[in-house]
Parts: sequence; C-alpha cells; structure tokens
Amino acid sequence: AQAALLEAENATISQGVVESNHPGYTGAGFVNYDNLAGSYVEWTIESAEARTVELTLRYANGTTVNRPMNVAGALVDFPGTGAWTTWRTARVTVPLNAGANLVRATALTAGGGPNVDSLTV
Ligand code: GCU
Ligand code: CA
Repeated sequence: AQAALLEAENATISQGVVESNHPGYTGAGFVNYDNLAGSYVEWTIESAEARTVELTLRYANGTTVNRPMNVAGALVDFPGTGAWTTWRTARVTVPLNAGANLVRATALTAGGGPNVDSLTV
C-alpha cells in the first residue's frame, strides 16, 4: 500500500492544542501536548486487510528529557531533538485490523508528549 501522511492537527486531540510557532512542521501546524501524563493524539487508520505496519511519528522535543509515549500499545521513546524547531522521526511496528483502526499516542510522563507533527503509515 502507498504511504499515507496523517497530520496530527487533523486527528483527535485530548489535552493538547494545535500550534504553529515552531517552524519545520508539515501541514497547518503540530500538536503541543499538555505537559502531563495521559494527554493524547488519536488517528484513524483505515486498512483494507489485517496487516502489520511501521508507523513513523514526526516530532520535536526541545528539552533534554525523553518523553515516552504509548503508541498503539507499544512503548516508544521521544528523546530530545535539540530544539523545538528540529523535527525527527520515531518508528514503531504495530498490527492493524481490517477496517478502521484507532491509533492513539498517549504521553506517559509528567512532561507530556513531544510536539507531534504527523503520523505516516
Ligand atoms: C515550550 C514550547 C512548546 C512545548 C513546551 C513543552 O513551551 O514552546 O511548544 O510544547 O515547551 O515543554 O512541552
Ligand atoms: Ca507541550
């Protein structure tokens, strides 16, 4: 299947806001997670069949502290990128069902998530 880029700013956001003050993002902006555990972004990924896919999350973390998240059940690290304007990617392999899949990226620590730009399937 072709790669699909799903912008975080178009996903369902709980305890986060869409912002555009740190350049380098794609689309209209990125999601600034509130700085607390439990904040999340949730995408809907449609799949024609059950399959395993690699998800790529594009993010920035201008701190020096990792901001791990639970992404579709997997623990994913989001270490510092050096600046809020420096965007890098983190990858995780997850199973998808046939049909609509809700893929949620939930912050696990008091710092919240990193700033998240997009999810590519
Ligand atoms: C700064 C930065 C935000 C970021 C926040 C954080 O305020 O401008 O984009 O989300 O730090 O630490 O989470
Ligand atoms: Ca934040």
